[in-house]
Amino acid sequence: MAVTGIERTNNQQLLTWVEQMATLAKPDDVYWCDGSKEEYDRLCQQMVEAGTLIPLNQKKRPNSFLARSDPDDVARVEHRTYVCSKDKIDAGPTNNWVDPVEMKETMVDLFDGTMRGRTMYVIPFSMGPLGSHIAHIGVQLTDSPYVAMSMRVMTRMGEAALDVLGDGDFVPCMHSVGAPLADGEADVPWPCNDTKYIVQYPEERAIWSYGSGYGGNALLGKKCFSLRIASVMARDEGWLAEHMLILGLESPEGEKTYVAAAFPSACGKTNLAMLVPPEGFDGWKVRTVGDDIAWIKPGDDGRLYAINPEAGYFGVVPGTNYSSNPNAMKMMERDTIFTNVALTDDGDVWWEGMDGEVPDHLIDWKGNDWAPGSSELAAHPNARFTCATSQCPSADPAWDDPAGVPISAFIFGGRLSHTFPLVYQSFDWEHGVYMAATMGSEATAAAVNQAAIRRDPMAMLPFCGYNMADYWRHWLRLGKGLAHPPKIFRVNWFRKDKKGKFIWPGFGENMRVLNWIVDRANGEVDAAESPFGHMPRHQDLNWRGLDFHVDDFSGIMDIDRARGLEEAEAQTELFESFEDRLPPEMETQRQALKDRLTKSSDQWKVAS
Ligand code: GTP
Ligand code: SPV
Ligand code: MN
Repeated sequence: MAVTGIERTNNQQLLTWVEQMATLAKPDDVYWCDGSKEEYDRLCQQMVEAGTLIPLNQKKRPNSFLARSDPDDVARVEHRTYVCSKDKIDAGPTNNWVDPVEMKETMVDLFDGTMRGRTMYVIPFSMGPLGSHIAHIGVQLTDSPYVAMSMRVMTRMGEAALDVLGDGDFVPCMHSVGAPLADGEADVPWPCNDTKYIVQYPEERAIWSYGSGYGGNALLGKKCFSLRIASVMARDEGWLAEHMLILGLESPEGEKTYVAAAFPSACGKTNLAMLVPPEGFDGWKVRTVGDDIAWIKPGDDGRLYAINPEAGYFGVVPGTNYSSNPNAMKMMERDTIFTNVALTDDGDVWWEGMDGEVPDHLIDWKGNDWAPGSSELAAHPNARFTCATSQCPSADPAWDDPAGVPISAFIFGGRLSHTFPLVYQSFDWEHGVYMAATMGSEATAAAVNQAAIRRDPMAMLPFCGYNMADYWRHWLRLGKGLAHPPKIFRVNWFRKDKKGKFIWPGFGENMRVLNWIVDRANGEVDAAESPFGHMPRHQDLNWRGLDFHVDDFSGIMDIDRARGLEEAEAQTELFESFEDRLPPEMETQRQALKDRLTKSSDQWKVAS
């Protein structure tokens, strides 16, 4: 077995592990990634020759590529994702669990010879700015060059990460697409296996992923490390690892306020993180630190500081256009990997919801001819772009700051067509944790086999690496220990009218809500008190440039007592599933909500 690339480490633990894994997986050779541009270009070229990547029109989309995945490998597989803690109760009722010893046997069987005929890439990476006290190092082994190149975009990858690692600890991330090649067997453009396992060992802080080459299943720095494993590290060490975007809102006076916001997958984090302020907000700027994950640690000043552990974006493309998200559109004008979008006749990309005319002819995401009127979608609903944070026109000057940015507010929002208002603020930290813990959301394309509506506490349901009730307890404890905890808000851009249409225009107009949130976090405006929490009245929001009538405002703000009580009742199912692990504060808060609703009118109105 040939070993190539720069094996520039004396880290014995790393060298031993790489050797053991190579002995198990039996690749033809082992290649240590250095993270250079030359290496990236070389991998791209190799994948073009193998048919995995299609180079796009160099004039229209410089240095960009299209990848088409296997049609059965298009999203995270939550039903194949496991948290293998020693005790089942520590994984909790919301995670799939298998005994770690048993699972290790399954893994060793699957990985035995899994890389035959392929190269094993060794990918050292830092989640977070190199050397930041909030950052951590991981090393991924993979037989997928698509994963290796994606990791260079999504993380600080290569030699620099090895230098930071020194002889310290790293999170070992073992990955294979599960498609060994027999002697002389031809490869396919997107090798993968029908059997998939995404396995986290929280006590060991290790990850094994088998059978998929796609996104969160395969780019192990993302959900597996930065959320499932990091949430466990965060619990043990007193910090937070969250499914949150981070943005900075700058007022015309130059005052900057950072907020972090959790939304379930495909519910608008990328859009909000890159928001362009609408008419009526002259001089305001939104600056992006991250669009998916936040690592947040308490600072000496009693505030929370956040970094984005990632260095790139892996964002949903369908629905993205120059009005819904102009910054994302500009970002992907060059140096971008597109996965599962359609190809135009002139070598560019297309997806549903893109600006302009629908082309007369396309090659769809499965590689078939496509014409308008076809019953199939041209792009897969979970088609994504991969590109570097440095390409984002709205990147915050502090996006790579090892110190992180101070967080003034946490925002939580699901996709909910009824009951939940546009925005409200918790009465205090404990109430805020309850609001976040009981969040629900309607289904999207980001995961397969997902129920129509589900509870998604803190948007972490698929990502919390331990018992969710203990996670709430951790949140409660952490906030109580802070001199200046962020204020907590719930938002809902997705309420619908009787005809099933979104009432709120959303996207850039969400700025009006952000503005109120930031003013509240900075203690600058009054609010009404509703059964749900503090709420803006119509006159409290800036409406310049948008004709949004008081009656429409009523439509997204009013609280229907019967529906509110139904919701409070429905929460018992979630709470009861945790049995005696449930923090008592959760039930106290639920009762308090019921009390407030019972004393309220049939329709609580904020507008008048
Ligand atoms: P992951 O990357 O999967 O974690 O998700 P994300 O939260 O970054 O998702 P993304 O921003 O890609 O979500 C895109 C979806 O949200 C699309 O269907 C958009 O149309 C929708 N969306 C985003 N913002 C808004 C909004 O303000 N209003 C409405 N109605 N839809 C929105
Ligand atoms: C999500 O599903 O929340 C994502 C995309 O951010 S993936 O990386 O595939 O998990
Ligand atoms: Mn996500």
